[in-house]
Amino acid sequence: MKIEFAATGATPRAGTGVAVLAQDKGALTPAAQAVDAALSGLLSRAMPTTRFTGAKGQTLDLVTGAADGPARVALLGTGAEGAITAAVAETAAASAWKALGGSGVATVVVQLGAVSADVAAQAAYGATLASYRFDRYRTTEKPEARPSATRIVIELDDPTGVEAAFAPLKAVADATCFARDLVSEPANILYPAEFAARVKALESLGLTVEVLGEAEMTKLGMGSLLGVGQGSRRESQLVVIQWKGASDPNAQPVAFVGKGVTFDTGGISLKPADGMEDMKWDMGGAAAVSGLMHALAGRKAKVNAVGILGLVENMPDGNAQRPGDIVTSMSGQTIEVINTDAEGRLVLADALWYCQDRFKPKFMIDLATLTGAIIIALGNDYAGLFSNNDELANNLLAASETSGEPLWRLPIPPAYEKQIESMAADMKNVGGRPGGSITAALFLQRFVNKLPWAHLDIASTAWKKPSAVPTIPDGATGYGVRLLNQLVADKYEG
Ligand code: BES
Ligand code: MN
Ligand code: ZN
Repeated sequence: MKIEFAATGATPRAGTGVAVLAQDKGALTPAAQAVDAALSGLLSRAMPTTRFTGAKGQTLDLVTGAADGPARVALLGTGAEGAITAAVAETAAASAWKALGGSGVATVVVQLGAVSADVAAQAAYGATLASYRFDRYRTTEKPEARPSATRIVIELDDPTGVEAAFAPLKAVADATCFARDLVSEPANILYPAEFAARVKALESLGLTVEVLGEAEMTKLGMGSLLGVGQGSRRESQLVVIQWKGASDPNAQPVAFVGKGVTFDTGGISLKPADGMEDMKWDMGGAAAVSGLMHALAGRKAKVNAVGILGLVENMPDGNAQRPGDIVTSMSGQTIEVINTDAEGRLVLADALWYCQDRFKPKFMIDLATLTGAIIIALGNDYAGLFSNNDELANNLLAASETSGEPLWRLPIPPAYEKQIESMAADMKNVGGRPGGSITAALFLQRFVNKLPWAHLDIASTAWKKPSAVPTIPDGATGYGVRLLNQLVADKYEG
């Protein structure tokens, strides 16, 4: 999608789709009034004949019939009257794409009027996120089934400085789309080595990427991660991504760790057939970490950051690990593998340990599509947050508010530790159905020493179908990129 900026009215209107904003009680914004006047009052005549009130989230899409004006006009409701904030502009431009992108017009114009460069830039950000589409493997799709628009123009009265304001946001939107691509790819294409190769290509942005194979991980003693991948024909990989943007290249980094199970069959504890195809996105945590590092490099964030990806494929096979096997993790702690489908925590155990051991970071945040139980607990909008540190947790919750990626904190009570006690090893990898997401977090906590740490269970948010959020098309969400970028920008730069 081509995103452009222009001064109000500079884009020839004939045949375009124009989006403008209305507020409560159908109050047209000045930009909308101008469009209304140019169309001889079409908007103000049409509105009372519909249920459109300007309430937040409403859309009124009109065919103008104009010979030389816009073919379509979409009125977008923003609710409460007042100035158009960045958040309102982001949602409005995303909704403009939803309303007009497939309407037959080739150009969508979002006419914002007298807004600041920052607000217009945020609109472009919303439009970029909304117009994402994964269609790499569609060879016979009819043109009329595809979006008609190839260009979105954000118009504002004074476009001075808007490109500069958009640059950092574009970096984050592009990085989110990079993460969405990784999540959308099927597992026959995106296996651990291919995932690692795609991340290695990010070195062009200024990142350093190391890829460790099974031989190196064996030397490091990563028996927990390697046990998960041993039933797969595809080699497991550990990817270490570094961004050094702080003025002191030796300043203590912040660290992010992602679960990257490129396909989760469950292993010998095989999952049922129904819905198993969803497990191609069991690498959503690793995709989010990759996307975050892409974003930090893309906008040259003033921070040192480390991203660690644990990439494995969980397959049943003659060489696969069995329920009851005992593995030794890099930390030295032993784990009885009761259920080979609780594999994410086994991967993260070694990835987290390696991360804190090698980098001694300020904090570690892991992201993982870890438990079905988090979907039961929180539904499909909120990711679960678990942390041993209130300051880090509160910073994450604040970043969640600002970035619009919802997060909800859950407890990690020590009393529940007994659910993961094993008779044969230091712990077992499942704690039964009660509090399934919590016992998974307690398991991870055993591999972080005393470092400030947070675990985001994103099984609930990595994929949305259907999506009711205008900036998120159906499918891969890229959840976590925007949240963590916001966290870094707000609290850990400079
Ligand atoms: N990848 C799954 C969790 C998951 C479920 C992600 C649904 C996305 C959607 C994870 O590896 C898993 O299988 N977890 C088990 C744990 C259980 C065996 C303790 C689960 O949630 O059932
Ligand atoms: Mn599993
Ligand atoms: Zn899994």
